[in-house]
Amino acid sequence: MKSIPAPERSGSGAPTPPELGGIRFDRPRLTDGDPMWRLARSSPHIDANTPYFYLLWCRDFAASSAVARDGADLCAYTAGFVRPARPDTLFVWQTAVASAWQSVGLARRMLDLLVADRYRYVECSITADNPASDRYVRAFARSRGAPVRCEPFLGPEHFGGAAHAPEILYRIGPLGPSGSPGSPGPLGP
Ligand SMILES: CC(C)(COP(=O)(O)OP(=O)(O)OC[C@H]1O[C@@H](n2cnc3c(N)ncnc32)[C@H](O)[C@@H]1OP(=O)(O)O)[C@@H](O)C(=O)NCCC(=O)NCCS
Repeated sequence: MKSIPAPERSGSGAPTPPELGGIRFDRPRLTDGDPMWRLARSSPHIDANTPYFYLLWCRDFAASSAVARDGADLCAYTAGFVRPARPDTLFVWQTAVASAWQSVGLARRMLDLLVADRYRYVECSITADNPASDRYVRAFARSRGAPVRCEPFLGPEHFGGAAHAPEILYRIGPLGPSGSPGSPGPLGP
């Protein structure tokens, strides 16, 4: 397992620029689509989508998504979108961290950088057999002093009868201040 130092904070409490121990946090680019797809394909709990899907995501949803790079290699991504009917809400669609980089804080750091003070709520859906995701989302909520509301979201009936664990909708918020003044956030607009 790799290790990175804890996020440093400046005297004002703001996070330092998005680079930690050689890991660089960034918006996805079109060239990230293929490595994102490969990481998704090798990750448990993530539905397989087509490479084309991730390429479109990188083109059209980069502003609400983040990646972590180890040099030229993609080691993690968070793909999110702003709900059209709720512009104050970031829906985190997928987060995947390469196994060698798990549990060192990459998922948390991507979400912190992505959300900053731009959104009042974060939503995602998690299956009951995924405690790591539950922990990661609850840790984020705690850091922002925000309640977490969970409710049934999508059941097997929504997946056309395909075997799919029920998705529970997590709604986190309202979010307290991130401690990083200067919206639109450290990842830029
Ligand atoms: C879930 C996942 C994204 C977490 O990423 P990560 O970078 O390892 O998580 P972090 O290191 O930022 O940890 C965030 C919190 O989750 C906890 N956590 C991380 N992995 C965990 C695990 N396997 N079991 C229990 N808790 C775990 C951490 O302890 C931390 O909580 P804390 O702050 O209370 O200590 C990663 O395990 C993953 O890619 N899983 C496979 C794909 C997936 O399930 N994606 C989510 C559904 S789309």
